[in-house]
Amino acid sequence: MSFRTFFLSLSASFGVAWLAIVIVPYFEMRSIEPVAMGEEATGTNAIYIPKRAGRVADGSQVYAANGCYLCHTQLIRPDYAGNDVFRSDFAGLVNKEEGIDTRRESNVFDFAGEKFAHIGINRMGPDLSNLAVRVEATYAKGISAEQWLYRHLYNPRLEPARSHSNCPSFRFLFVEKKVTGNPSDEALPFKGDKGEEIVPNSEGRALVSYLLSLKKDNPVPPVFDFKSTEESSTSAATPAP
Ligand code: HEC
Repeated sequence: MSFRTFFLSLSASFGVAWLAIVIVPYFEMRSIEPVAMGEEATGTNAIYIPKRAGRVADGSQVYAANGCYLCHTQLIRPDYAGNDVFRSDFAGLVNKEEGIDTRRESNVFDFAGEKFAHIGINRMGPDLSNLAVRVEATYAKGISAEQWLYRHLYNPRLEPARSHSNCPSFRFLFVEKKVTGNPSDEALPFKGDKGEEIVPNSEGRALVSYLLSLKKDNPVPPVFDFKSTEESSTSAATPAP
């Protein structure tokens, strides 16, 4: 091999890599504007992070230990990756008459302070990011949201519309207890074999507290809020007067 060929091939090998890794991306990305954040750009610095102490944190462990994340996600993907954000059952609550629309993408702050972010690995069952919102607004008719969730955990096929539910029953989160005095508020509407009431145990209670905390309706700065992304990107592109 002559020195000339050697030199040319060497430059070609480095040149092609340099072209692909440095030059092409530079021309593709140089027009991207940085996303502006903070008081000046978005009018707020505040991000509300819900507290997840005590029973909610314990419930999160019960959620993990029972593998709920194997079938349920807690992740509202951006609109380029799926249609989650347009689904009011997954992404929030829409009530056109009252002008309510809390749908939005998940963001990192939704998981702040959690030991595990249960984003899930499979979507066999519905996404639970906003479970509490829909239990309170639609499912729990005439009963409390807690009671609806207890009934679902005990027997997911209880309601006629869910008679084919694939959600496993978590009866081991309940105990049968002799009724002394008034029946417990949390007792299920059916009785055990010996007429005893069926009440959730401490793990069941913690799990339901956790499930009731699953709401993503806190306001977020516009840069995280899918509904205003278009607006903020156009305003970022327009020079300030
Ligand atoms: C084998 C998969 C699987 C596992 C594990 C599982 N679920 Fe489900 N779940 C489903 C399916 C499928 C549905 C939809 C059918 C229905 O409405 O019951 C569902 C529905 C639900 C619903 C009703 C949601 C809605 O909006 O209609 C709740 C609440 C729920 N599951 C909670 C749990 C909890 C809590 C755990 C863990 C303790 C769990 N699930 C574990 C499959 C699963």
